[in-house]
Amino acid sequence: MSTIPTYIPSKNFSEQAHVKSVAQYDQMYTESINNPDTFWAKEANELHWQQPWTKVLEWSAPDAKWFVDAKVNITENCLDRHISNGKGNNVAIIAEKEDGTVIPLTYKELHSRVCKLSNILLDLEVKPKDTVIIYMPMIAEAVIAMLACARIGAVHSVVFGGFSADSVRDRVNDSKANIVITADGGSRRGKIIPLKAIVDEAVAGNKLVQTVLYYKNAGNDILLNSDKDKCWNDLESTASDQHAAIGFDAEHPLFILYTSGSTGKPKGILHTTGGYMVGTYATSKYVFDLKENDVYWCTADVGWITGHSYITYGPLLNGATQVIYEGAPNHPDFSRFWKMVESHKVSVFYTAPTAVRAFVKAGDHHLEGNDLSSLRLLGSVGEPINPKTWQWYYEKIGNSKCPIVDTWWQTETGAIMISPLPGATTLIPGKATKPFFGVEVEIVDEKGNECEADQPGKLIIKKPWPSMLRGIYGDRERFISTYWSDYKDAYLAGDNAIKDKDGNIQIIGRLDDVLNVSGHRLGTAEVESALVSHASVAESAVVGHPHEIKGESIHCFVILHSNQTDSPELEKEIIAHVGKVIGAIARPDAIYFIPALPKTRSGKIMRRLLRELLLKGTVSGNLTTLEDPTVIDSISSILKKRQ
Ligand code: WT7
Repeated sequence: MSTIPTYIPSKNFSEQAHVKSVAQYDQMYTESINNPDTFWAKEANELHWQQPWTKVLEWSAPDAKWFVDAKVNITENCLDRHISNGKGNNVAIIAEKEDGTVIPLTYKELHSRVCKLSNILLDLEVKPKDTVIIYMPMIAEAVIAMLACARIGAVHSVVFGGFSADSVRDRVNDSKANIVITADGGSRRGKIIPLKAIVDEAVAGNKLVQTVLYYKNAGNDILLNSDKDKCWNDLESTASDQHAAIGFDAEHPLFILYTSGSTGKPKGILHTTGGYMVGTYATSKYVFDLKENDVYWCTADVGWITGHSYITYGPLLNGATQVIYEGAPNHPDFSRFWKMVESHKVSVFYTAPTAVRAFVKAGDHHLEGNDLSSLRLLGSVGEPINPKTWQWYYEKIGNSKCPIVDTWWQTETGAIMISPLPGATTLIPGKATKPFFGVEVEIVDEKGNECEADQPGKLIIKKPWPSMLRGIYGDRERFISTYWSDYKDAYLAGDNAIKDKDGNIQIIGRLDDVLNVSGHRLGTAEVESALVSHASVAESAVVGHPHEIKGESIHCFVILHSNQTDSPELEKEIIAHVGKVIGAIARPDAIYFIPALPKTRSGKIMRRLLRELLLKGTVSGNLTTLEDPTVIDSISSILKKRQ
């Protein structure tokens, strides 16, 4: 029997919340499922549309059109709308640099800077539907760049600032971008990451990219070696801050965001405007219970979907004030976040379990002397949070008074899909609990039959939702085969999950070859392809290994070319190589040099066996399908020597 305590929302919290009781959640959820058009039209009507829709949804699986024929500008809703409502002097963004400098921006100021950049982009001949790659540190200008693209109908594709030149190049090429927006550099643990230099390497020889627009942020030296380079700060000093937002079709593409799948090539997930806007607006309002007087802080990077939906769009659509921090959580030490919570009086704090685990490990003394009493709500995202970590977060950070919303969603879903509503839902540590409005989830077996309570199965979503992905950029076939082929007209999320008898959902983990390293998605195939791009490596197989802080770490089985010999130096070199090819987040924790991989007779690598050998030291099940069963013994003895 489970001994995990559960938590009913306090009366204080519920009374002031957008959703105040289980009964209210049930009633709204039922309406959202039975009459989705009515439900979503009501949410959408809280926002400004330049032209109304003729139909809320047009659905022909797997293609959805939300708010058909409507015209909208998402940035008008994030900015102009608040100014018209007399809230222009409210602070939109409090940007803190690693050195402690704080730069607040009001909604008026943010609007002015977005308009200026919109005009700069128009002068640079950026057109609606052009793709703009954004490769920036976590500074307000990253948000400004995204909003300026959206304002003029260009499609942004943000690349995480920790990715390497090769990863940037792949994304620039795949998205056919003709402009890249970057910064000279960004700060990380007192060092400067030379972003502009990385972009220079990534676009060298690229004929499509006409412009590299860089923002002077860190002050590091940069090479101005081409006629492509344009300085944002210089252009901004003379740009007009007048820009009238044009309404775009509700299905106008808003952004492409690359994420890992089970092949070596990341997929460009495509999101459009109207539905995404309504989805991020409504989830921010109900899940984070956002109010105008909240100071919200999501510690994600804009390079991930969390940063898109719950930094750039959701909070601004709700007129909230938010903190953005350019730097590392442990700089100068692990008290940094808590000092910032105190100094900015953060009330809603959203982070990843990997960060919480790092705080637990660093020790509670980092909390001492910091006043966290401004906090009223905590959130978690990116991977399952285990009950022990949840408890620590609840007691030590939330002082046992802040609900924790464990939010399950994906790059593909665009917005939160399963989560407690903090004023209504009973919290169960480790469970994402209940579906959000309009989300019909089911846990099914291989045949598509619903699993019984407490039985694990695949998580599927049976109804379209406004912020759903509209495709994989340039790859219709992969879109259909990845998400829409296993179960008729239902979306396959790629996660295993369990539903209890009360309908509470627990996410167990991925069912494909996707790793979750510190809350970041990485395909085993991507790491394998980086490994074999090293001159000494002939073949490789990658598996995830449980890790105290990262959740999962990368362990690699490598076969060298016959003229190569293994050594600790070569191991280090290969680890560094993977970091260089993909980015530091993909650096393996271990490389095992082995003579052969376990393969089936048809040549399929049995990663399951490698994982079992690594974790348990033995393998289970039938090995007769293996082409050469003796490889198991030799791998096992190599692993034993290492342990
Ligand atoms: C995968 C999506 C959603 C933004 C960050 C990650 C895992 C996400 C949870 C959670 C358990 C979670 C899933 C999912 N995941 N949130 N609350 N509990 N697992 O976005 O990179 O698209 O990854 O992250 O495995 O499929 P992403």
